[in-house]
Amino acid sequence: MNLLELARRRKTVRKFEKRIPNIEDIKYAVSVAKEAPSGKNDQPWLFILLSNDREKAKIREICERGEKDFYENAKGELRNWLEKLGFTWEKPFLSEAPFLLFVYSYVKSPFAKESVWLSIGYLLLALEERGLATVTYTPSDPKEVSSYIGLPREYRLEVILPIGYPADPKPKYERKKLEDVFQIR
Ligand SMILES: Cc1cc2nc3c(=O)[nH]c(=O)nc-3n(C[C@H](O)[C@H](O)[C@H](O)COP(=O)(O)O)c2cc1C
Repeated sequence: MNLLELARRRKTVRKFEKRIPNIEDIKYAVSVAKEAPSGKNDQPWLFILLSNDREKAKIREICERGEKDFYENAKGELRNWLEKLGFTWEKPFLSEAPFLLFVYSYVKSPFAKESVWLSIGYLLLALEERGLATVTYTPSDPKEVSSYIGLPREYRLEVILPIGYPADPKPKYERKKLEDVFQIR
């Protein structure tokens, strides 16, 4: 499958099979991610994989606490969008996905955030290539999660990627047409 086919097939998945993926497939995806370009070639990423049920439950509890505040304060267009798609403060995928991959940026590097998100893009396509799926979950209170994981303050949590085999009937959302987003002048 070529890159365009993989990119078109990939979709966000929030429900996972119980089947445990081979950890080699996740290693492969991180190997791809770490080939991304980065500011000053600092490679400011750090990937931490967790699969322990007790720890996943704790992460879910921390995140859901933050989500409750977020959902209570969401207003206007954002609130309508969340309600339309049926999103709530509950994040069952954090304990149901077989793996949680935490992606950190080293904040002292130039363009740390941009570089790490590029690597996350690579990672998503590599997971797709191996038949795995994820959701780019950005917790409302990343600092609380980070203090549980216990990294120094120079590392900022960018995303938690719950990883597993997809079991989510949700469709892939439509993309804009090429001619609407690309101008050749
Ligand atoms: C930077 C970023 C942050 C996101 N944060 C969340 C999130 O916190 N929770 C969630 O359920 N989905 C999150 N998403 C997933 C998007 O909602 C999803 O990619 C988008 O609706 C398009 O759907 P698709 O990926 O299935 O095409 C995020 C995506 C990106 C790129």
